[in-house]
Amino acid sequence: MGQQSPPDRSDWWRDAAIYQVYPRSFADGNGDGTGDLAGVRARLPYLAELGVDAVWFNPWYPSPMADGGYDVADYRGVEPLFGTLEEAELLITEALELGIRTVVDVVPNHVSDQHPWFKAALAAGPGSPERELFHFKQGRGEHGEIPPNDWVSEFGGCPWTRIEDGSWYLHLFATQQPDLNWAHPLVRSEHEEILRFWFDRGAAGVRIDSAALLAKDPELPDFVKGTDPHPYTDREELHAIYRSWRAIADEYPGTRILVGEVWLPDAERFARYLRPDELHTAFNFDFLARPWDAAALRESIDSTLALHAPVGAPATWVLCNHDVTRTVTRYGRRDTRFDFAAKRWGTPTDPALGLRRARAAALLSLALPGAVYLYQGEELGLPEVENLPLDRLQDPMHFRSGGTDPGRDGCRVPLPWSGDRPPYGFSQDSTAEPWLPQPADWAPLTVAAQSADPESMLSLYRSALELRRTEAALHGDKFEWLPSAGEVLAFRRGDLLCLVNFGAEPAPLPEHRTLLLASGPLSGPALLPTDTAVWLRVA
Ligand code: NOJ
Repeated sequence: MGQQSPPDRSDWWRDAAIYQVYPRSFADGNGDGTGDLAGVRARLPYLAELGVDAVWFNPWYPSPMADGGYDVADYRGVEPLFGTLEEAELLITEALELGIRTVVDVVPNHVSDQHPWFKAALAAGPGSPERELFHFKQGRGEHGEIPPNDWVSEFGGCPWTRIEDGSWYLHLFATQQPDLNWAHPLVRSEHEEILRFWFDRGAAGVRIDSAALLAKDPELPDFVKGTDPHPYTDREELHAIYRSWRAIADEYPGTRILVGEVWLPDAERFARYLRPDELHTAFNFDFLARPWDAAALRESIDSTLALHAPVGAPATWVLCNHDVTRTVTRYGRRDTRFDFAAKRWGTPTDPALGLRRARAAALLSLALPGAVYLYQGEELGLPEVENLPLDRLQDPMHFRSGGTDPGRDGCRVPLPWSGDRPPYGFSQDSTAEPWLPQPADWAPLTVAAQSADPESMLSLYRSALELRRTEAALHGDKFEWLPSAGEVLAFRRGDLLCLVNFGAEPAPLPEHRTLLLASGPLSGPALLPTDTAVWLRVA
């Protein structure tokens, strides 16, 4: 346990297990009910014992928190609620001493409306150079009262807000997140400096928020369905931006990585971002969105491997993150896909079924070739919290939907560490109420309770991550499907087999030497039950 990959492995990122920390909800070190960097520093041994290679932090910058920190007011600082820049530097160093690298989140598409640039743009008035850093435009209609175009915000509703002088500004997300004008050289050079700022402080990589949205058609035209190129998604100009970022990352020793948040339905367009002189990796949202179904997941695995191979990039495997329904809940539903547009209150869920499948999904994804991303609490099998009091919700996605979309708060509830009632040790030496309330029935899900139980989800993740590190068969990119009956997925990596049974009937296990790990009890010595996965050694 706790054995990490050596810090000098230059290809560390190709098969890394990267743990996502949502700082507000991981651990609270100063007892105010909000997670912070002191809390993370105190819990670094937990991450080392879990066996992850790197941590990706959601934004920790000064922010009014209109979108959980994705509204950044200062890209070179730390939100006072979370701590100080000095603490961030210490955290990066201390984590590295335990063999854990740090990936920071950069948010280039937009800033907070409290960012000095936006404040200066508002103050400077129409036609000023300050406004050119954003997309300010006059409206349509006799009095300019109609928004400049017909785009729809990624969070729903109109992505234009009108200000006192009558002009409108563009925000693809919330009103408080004005989009930057990436055609402006200062926007580019500023972000290049921000990258250097964090690489200079030891960051091993950056996760790039909304990476396919930065560049806009300069005319900001109406969106005509099927138009190519799209006025603001996946535009050609982006590739030059990421090539310049890659050149900066490559100047630093020890391989600093660029990880793109690229939601694109077209797999070939997606792969273009992973060419050798662009991003190192990007999140595999196709895999994340697939239903719990053998054929659908097999197809996703095949297409993922096929599209990454020609560009020489490793695949990534992601089951959930801070934006999507937690896996245990999603897999316990009738419709097990993930789709932002389909999120509704009161969707019936079978938590026991969801947990069984999430355990199997963990062994499936951790056995695949490439890097894997784990979202804090996934290793505890936390469910989505679906009964948060309405007056505690914070997510703009919820509010901009008019309340029909429950939003993303339910997957951001503070982690339970110990004890039998809220706040479950979330706040060190304090019983402060966490910023989002935790359910009353989470006592069996705490880190302390699960550490003591060899059958727990946490124990499963710890064992699987350890084998992933120590089994040579799970390194590199070898991968081969095996013939299998019914709804069983079976693949081989060297002398190791992974089998997952999605069918209704138990499936016979192939001949093997050792059963290394199972996501649940077997039905007899050689039968794999429904919704169960195993790792077997065959040679
Ligand atoms: C993607 C992030 O993951 C999400 O949390 C955020 O709301 C949007 N980008 C806007 O920054």
